[in-house]
Amino acid sequence: MKFFIDTANLAQIKEANDLGILDGVTTNPSLMAKEGIQGTEAILKHYKDICDIVKMPVSAEVISTDFEGMVEEGKKLAALDPNIVVKVPMIKDGIKAIKWFTDNGIKTNCTLVFSAGQAILAAKAGATYVSPFIGRIDDGNWDGIELIEQISHIYNTQGFKTLILAASIRTSLHIVKCAEAGADVCTCPLSSILGLLKHPLTDIGLAQFLEDAKKFA
Ligand code: G3P
Repeated sequence: MKFFIDTANLAQIKEANDLGILDGVTTNPSLMAKEGIQGTEAILKHYKDICDIVKMPVSAEVISTDFEGMVEEGKKLAALDPNIVVKVPMIKDGIKAIKWFTDNGIKTNCTLVFSAGQAILAAKAGATYVSPFIGRIDDGNWDGIELIEQISHIYNTQGFKTLILAASIRTSLHIVKCAEAGADVCTCPLSSILGLLKHPLTDIGLAQFLEDAKKFA
């Protein structure tokens, strides 16, 4: 399973990249706003700055909701860097736009996916990635991990090539469960990635080893 970081924060992207286990970056308009990035020029520059840090796929989201607007925006985003993946919402015109991008050699990430039916449509349109929002599904008292399992089963059965990119990850356990459930990619906040490091027995064991090592120093 690949690890993407879900943020527009350059320091966190650098920190995750320095770990050596990063495979890509996803962003969305809310994450850009959180970093105070406003206005088309600033947003485009920020995407380019991210692409200059990581030579890996970077999802950049369109904010138009009509086919023509999405295609125009997506073309501009894709022209920024070869690693840009155009992120398109799961709506009717979004599916049309994903098909257009697919036919024109532009990679896509179909976002805001909450059901297996939506994941089938995204795959039919040729999306490179499909992004089921695990945390938000859990928020509604459904089971986000079950959706990953269901999409994984359908894609394997049908031979769809679209990659399952588990999004809206809230915990380190989500990452483990997504790996079990067959996600191809997990896009996570840095805190959830770093949380995978933690185990009290590691800390206790290391303290003991270091203490014992002093006896022979
Ligand atoms: O990748 C999608 C993600 O950014 C949404 O996360 O926590 O706002 O549901 P969240």
